[in-house]
Amino acid sequence: MPHDAAAPKVVAVDAQPDAAGPPRKVYVHGAGRCGECHEKMYDEWETSAHARAASSTLYKAAVANAGDATCDRCHAPLEGIGPKDHLASEGVTCDVCHTLREPRPGPGGADFRLAVDDMVKFGPRCDLKDHYFHRMGCSPEHKEAAVCGSCHWWEPKGIPVFTEYKDWRDGPSAKANEPCQSCHMPDEKAMIATGSPVRTGVPHHGLIGLAGDLRKRALSLEVAVRDEGGALQVSVSVRNVNAGHSVPAGLPERRVVVKVRIKDASGTELATETRQLGRVLVDATGTEVPFWRATKVGSDTRIAPGATWTDAFVFGPPAGGTVEVDVVYRGVSDPVAKLLAVADVEEMLMSSARVPFGPPTAAGRAKVPKTIITKPPPAGKRPRSQGLP
Ligand code: HEC
Ligand code: HEC
Ligand code: HEC
Ligand code: HEC
Ligand code: HEC
Repeated sequence: MPHDAAAPKVVAVDAQPDAAGPPRKVYVHGAGRCGECHEKMYDEWETSAHARAASSTLYKAAVANAGDATCDRCHAPLEGIGPKDHLASEGVTCDVCHTLREPRPGPGGADFRLAVDDMVKFGPRCDLKDHYFHRMGCSPEHKEAAVCGSCHWWEPKGIPVFTEYKDWRDGPSAKANEPCQSCHMPDEKAMIATGSPVRTGVPHHGLIGLAGDLRKRALSLEVAVRDEGGALQVSVSVRNVNAGHSVPAGLPERRVVVKVRIKDASGTELATETRQLGRVLVDATGTEVPFWRATKVGSDTRIAPGATWTDAFVFGPPAGGTVEVDVVYRGVSDPVAKLLAVADVEEMLMSSARVPFGPPTAAGRAKVPKTIITKPPPAGKRPRSQGLP
């Protein structure tokens, strides 16, 4: 993060050093320091999105375009705290979440306090012995969704931008007592710190599943192929089976792209159709724009927990071949990627199905009707209300 002394330093209000008083001692460290003892958490966090919150290409392009210094509140909450301003470039680092107190999720966003006045690190356990490097802070709240929700809910000027917490709160996962951590921080058996006893219930810090494959667990796919007087009718249903909020989640510019392709027996593509699912924000003229320029929601085709999106595609009368359906996660929509000049858009296959079909015959089309269902692996959730040993 470039540090501009003239820019307003917006941090959690209570953590703001008192400008009038004497310089205050603050206790914050870089993740590398924590990683000297907490190697496992460090390795998992280092490759996670939280570590890139202030430095990803997409984020930097967005801030430059938005010209808004208040983005730091969630992306670099240590900005302006203490003498070590370079820590802000670590984004959502260890000392953000482990000093975070009194999170109050709400549409205003970033309502929390960072307790950096003392060398206490807050975590879920209440029976650990203090260590010379830091004391232990007992915070059962670290097992609750509010810790995440204070950043993962923001509706500036009434525009829904980040609503994972709100979606979760109003959906089936909150009722089932499954906080964000139950899917995003699954448990393992591990040492919490080098040389400490192996314990159960140690949360993974990569935040997208143990194997980094949470996106592949979100959706099930059903493809039904029928003959319609020689033409091919393809019905596609995509169901949100494993996410505790709507999919795609997060940034409104995220997209789930459904691609339907017809290939002939030799693999040549004959036809293709795509649909883009997500929350599309628009300006006064109805044009898709990034959230900081938006005045309203243009359309919202995200899939709520347990809900199904369906559409039908009709293709002219091909001979034999294969219907290929791919459901792909895309990190940012095409118009916004273009506007921000971001070329390297993240893509990931979430689900897919292949349905072969034969040529039309007197008795109808060979090998259809046919339905193929692709189910994702289970959510990989942690057992409900697991106690800590
Ligand atoms: C010199 C070693 C060392 C360093 C450096 C260190 N810790 Fe720890 N930490 C420990 C030990 C030991 C424990 C207790 C482990 C146990 O008993 O299983 C612990 C426990 C914790 C806990 C659990 C607290 C609870 O009550 O649940 C948190 C959170 C934590 N550390 C965060 C941090 C953060 C953040 C940093 C960097 C600012 C850090 N630690 C740096 C040694 C260290
Ligand atoms: C201090 C604010 C803050 C807190 C607290 C926070 N997050 Fe985040 N989170 C962010 C930001 C900012 C990003 C975007 C990082 C990026 O992609 O540049 C993010 C990204 C994510 C992602 C996207 C991962 C990916 O690979 O795309 C997930 C999942 C996530 N957070 C879950 C959580 C969960 C679960 C918690 C609670 C345990 C939590 N977050 C707490 C700010 C926060
Ligand atoms: C029942 C399991 C479950 C729960 C509970 C849950 N999530 Fe998720 N989350 C998922 C799955 C599966 C995905 C992947 C689908 C996607 O990217 O939209 C996901 C994706 C995300 C993403 C987007 C990551 C990306 O792919 O860019 C964010 C951010 C996120 N979750 C935050 C949260 C927060 C915050 C909470 C709690 C308020 C929460 N989640 C609760 C399962 C869950
Ligand atoms: C996005 C917020 C977030 C970030 C960033 C984060 N943690 Fe955590 N950490 C948590 C939460 C939440 C828990 C408790 C989850 C649970 O038990 O359900 C936790 C638990 C822990 C624990 C205690 C584990 C146990 O089993 O009791 C340690 C130690 C820890 N984190 C260290 C770190 C270190 C070191 C870093 C940086 C490399 C880090 N954390 C980064 C949110 C975070
Ligand atoms: C209230 C907290 C909050 C504020 C304020 C905030 N963000 Fe974020 N931002 C998040 C969270 C949470 C995510 C993660 C969502 C996801 O992964 O899809 C995120 C993700 C992003 C991403 C995607 C990053 C990536 O690498 O994929 C961009 C871009 C972004 N924010 C831009 C901004 C800009 C620009 C501002 C200021 C105008 C801003 N944000 C202010 C919470 C916030």
